[in-house]
Amino acid sequence: MRRAVAGSPTAPPADLFVVLGATGDLMERKLIPALYAISAGTAGETRRLRILGSSRRPWKDEEFRDYAIDALVSGKCAPPAAARTWAEATVGFQSTPEDLSEGLGPLAQRIAEEEARYRLSGNRVLYLALPAVAFPPTIRAIGEAGLSKGPGWTRFVIEKPFGRDLASAEELNALIHRWFDETAVYRIDHYLGKETVQNLLVFRFANMLFESVWNRDRIRHVEITVAEDLGLENRATYYDQAGALRDMVQSHLAQLLTLTAMEVPTNLEADQVRNEKVKVLRSLEPVRPEDVVFGQYAAGTVGGTRVPSYREEPGVKPHSSTETFVALRLKVNSWRWHGIPFYLRTGKRLPMKLTEILVRFREPPVWFFGDKGPKELTANSLSITIQPDEGFALGIEIKRPGHAIRLETHQLHFRYAEAFGPLTDGYQTLILDILRGDQTLFVRADEVEESWRVFAPVLQDPPKPRPYEAGSWGPKESDALLAADGQEWTER
Ligand code: BG6
Repeated sequence: MRRAVAGSPTAPPADLFVVLGATGDLMERKLIPALYAISAGTAGETRRLRILGSSRRPWKDEEFRDYAIDALVSGKCAPPAAARTWAEATVGFQSTPEDLSEGLGPLAQRIAEEEARYRLSGNRVLYLALPAVAFPPTIRAIGEAGLSKGPGWTRFVIEKPFGRDLASAEELNALIHRWFDETAVYRIDHYLGKETVQNLLVFRFANMLFESVWNRDRIRHVEITVAEDLGLENRATYYDQAGALRDMVQSHLAQLLTLTAMEVPTNLEADQVRNEKVKVLRSLEPVRPEDVVFGQYAAGTVGGTRVPSYREEPGVKPHSSTETFVALRLKVNSWRWHGIPFYLRTGKRLPMKLTEILVRFREPPVWFFGDKGPKELTANSLSITIQPDEGFALGIEIKRPGHAIRLETHQLHFRYAEAFGPLTDGYQTLILDILRGDQTLFVRADEVEESWRVFAPVLQDPPKPRPYEAGSWGPKESDALLAADGQEWTER
């Protein structure tokens, strides 16, 4: 039987997808499964691809193919025979020098050879699946090897973190722009690949019901929670330097905030949407120390298992003051939101995995229903669950059957799993968008910089992290932050 190879003369030419850092965790867990789904045709849309992995390992094609096959089989993405057929037809590997100052000449040469041998389209994706320290030398080496321009389009993909603060983000952007126009740059914040995050735009702008109450007149406050039950997962080297504010708030929580608070864009073109997101960030003052609480987990019990404190995790400095929890209050100074607090919190070793946007509406101005005043009997709330039980629930007051007027809060639910079955991984969406040239779900240079402008100043003199027991919802100071406004975190 004839195998479908990337350069088969009867098929349209394939694009080349080059991954630098192709022997790391991201490639194994996310990119190989997504690339397989897209190019083997198990995703909704099929794209013809030739995949070239590259890293410092002195591997040959066969070793990398075996690695890709293992990733697919152990991740239950493909049966062994299908994984092998795909890898042999689609995947190659080029080793790069230990010392990048020797340049990426061999990679550039291999790319040209692949394009000639498989009669590829000349379109290239250059994907950096590397730790942040490797970004600057790799970007320079890519540029100097002449790889920023190819025979067709060239798209440059980079994963967070985009800098550690405003200055380093500006520097990184300037370096990228030395070689690539912003229209060719795809900065990945994987939260934007999640169906439920994209659905925020549909939810808000396709449902007049919600859009008409989405403002300071009807909303009392908004809570954004990104809770993880996991701890460090062997990432101490990175995490102990980064902390929760850099790791989660500046990126993922900022994305959820901007999509929740943005104005209606003129249309859904990438730059229209991104302009509106940037405007939200521009309307935020840099975070003030009194609006932030940092926490660090002490030993405790999560999901019935005893877990050590953060400082006892392998690789963490014994006196580390890195925050594993952040709670903060933000005021979006826009016409729509003036005076309405947005409370954000994220942490490791919290009781559960939960990403949720909770909108608390105002109480009725007059209460007719007995002693229970609006304070105790909650006002309407809308909780949008980004993960894991994707969907939303609208809490409304109902009269309990019976002679007396007694009220109860009940939830109107929508669950993705019930309507559509399991959702696909966000990386498939993001990679397809890169191949299509749609930048809507990617973070623009000015968006990164504005976000650092808001969040980084607090790191200049960071608050002391307050201890919290693993398995709790963070330090008590996090509750006090809201209590000071007469509010409280919605109980789970
Ligand atoms: C990553 C962070 O960006 O997001 C991790 O570096 C975090 O620390 C992860 O665990 C959370 O992603 P998700 O998709 O599991 O919510």
